[in-house]
Amino acid sequence: MIPIILDMDPGIDDAVALSIALSNPSIDIKLLTSVAGNVGVDKTTNNLLKLTTFFHQTQIPVAKGAAAPLKKDFSDAAYIHGESGMPGYDFPQVTKEAIKLDAVTAMAEELEAAIVPMTIVATGSYTNIAMLIQKYPSLLHKIEKFVLMGGSLSGGNVSSVAEFNVFTDPDAADIVFKSGVPIVMIGLDVTLKALLPFETIDAIGSQGEAGEMLQKVMTAYGDTAEGGKPMHDVNTICYL
Ligand code: RIB
Ligand code: CA
Repeated sequence: MIPIILDMDPGIDDAVALSIALSNPSIDIKLLTSVAGNVGVDKTTNNLLKLTTFFHQTQIPVAKGAAAPLKKDFSDAAYIHGESGMPGYDFPQVTKEAIKLDAVTAMAEELEAAIVPMTIVATGSYTNIAMLIQKYPSLLHKIEKFVLMGGSLSGGNVSSVAEFNVFTDPDAADIVFKSGVPIVMIGLDVTLKALLPFETIDAIGSQGEAGEMLQKVMTAYGDTAEGGKPMHDVNTICYL
């Protein structure tokens, strides 16, 4: 089992990544944390809770994180992920609230208690993990590595050079990349090669309740490329 903390901004590709992680027996999600990104942090938090409820995994704690980048003004990607951040499917009523601890404190407590160093996967902007690095430098040795969806070696998606997660909070990205913690960066140069074909998205719809949910939210996903849809964040879980 790989013990991980998963920091996300669901967001449709985040939701697909979490669905796969929740269903993979070798991944042990110790903590889910939300961050403002694709949509505001209240919505990303609620979307995490919707997914843990849908998959009957409400034992996994969800902690609410940063509502805005460290310095920049926040601007979302609702034009890609819809106003709710996870449109297209009528999720069951959320049965459990986020924990009282904020994301950074919850991360620190998980790392403190960890017997072996943990992997932190971030699929939204890096605001929470930058704050963790700044506030708890004595805990960095408890982080085995960061696995980050973000950045690019081959051009951007919000400008000619900028990728959305880094663009949303470049000051946080600077702190993370200079932290000294081992990093696996999965940028657009990777994720734009791993497209989910349209016919596969349709075929998933007949794979039970989860398949129906995933097919509906992925159909609502506004990020498309030639021949399919880039499920950027899913690549972090595939890497694990
Ligand atoms: O650039 C792609 C990234 O931005 C993905 O994490 C997607 O969910 C959005 O947050
Ligand atoms: Ca994301």
